[in-house]
Amino acid sequence: MRASINGVQMAYTDEGIGAPVLLVHGFPLDRTMWDDQLRALSSRYRVIAPDLRGHGESETAQGPYSMDLFADDLRALLDDLGLDQVILCGLSMGGYVAFAFYRMYKERVRALALADTRPQPDTPRAAEGRETMAQLAEREGQTPIAQRLLPLLLSDDTLQGRPSVVERVQGMITRCSVPGIAGDLRALASRPDSTLTLERITCPTLLLVGEEDAITPPSDSEMMADLLPDVRLSIIPSAGHLPNMENPDTFNFSFLSFLESL
Ligand code: MLT
Repeated sequence: MRASINGVQMAYTDEGIGAPVLLVHGFPLDRTMWDDQLRALSSRYRVIAPDLRGHGESETAQGPYSMDLFADDLRALLDDLGLDQVILCGLSMGGYVAFAFYRMYKERVRALALADTRPQPDTPRAAEGRETMAQLAEREGQTPIAQRLLPLLLSDDTLQGRPSVVERVQGMITRCSVPGIAGDLRALASRPDSTLTLERITCPTLLLVGEEDAITPPSDSEMMADLLPDVRLSIIPSAGHLPNMENPDTFNFSFLSFLESL
């Protein structure tokens, strides 16, 4: 499906009937990363999964991007769909977008599911690395980005034993527009500190993280769990930074148990 959102054509999937669940993908991926969750959840929930601007089948919009801009695009999509409140799930960069959304539109969040994400901003060194990578994408396109990211995103088990997951992730990165990749990287580098936001979250929250996540390790989620008043933490075995794809059965089981508890 498509909608004109803040002047950009946004592609999204909207399946099922029930309490609405909005799924926000990570960098530099797209809504197809949620295919296994759409299958598992849409018999009981209304599942909405957009491609953020510059990603997947959404229009390529030139930057600059920011977490606030992505969050405002999601707010405009919910307005377009006539939805007041959602259960908001974001993975990694999608989690940073969820923090921004919560800061801006807290009353529209029924519950949060934060997967493989963290509240702290980039260090100056990490931000420099993002800029180097943005320039690499602008010079050489998506392929060297996919080569660098795949070993960071996926666990060894996945890299060696789940070729279809490796292919899906590679396909998403190579389909992502170059302005999307570079725009994300600069937005990631300048994202704000969300530690104080965590202290203000009052809704039920599920934290999910791959046991072998090399980018946002379980210790980040454990630290978040200590700060949240109403929280569950699920560490997903045999998975890296994308546990929803690497171990979908365990991820979906935890997600569905959380949804049913609401
Ligand atoms: C993501 O998966 O969205 C990114 O890895 C986030 C990050 O690098 O901080």
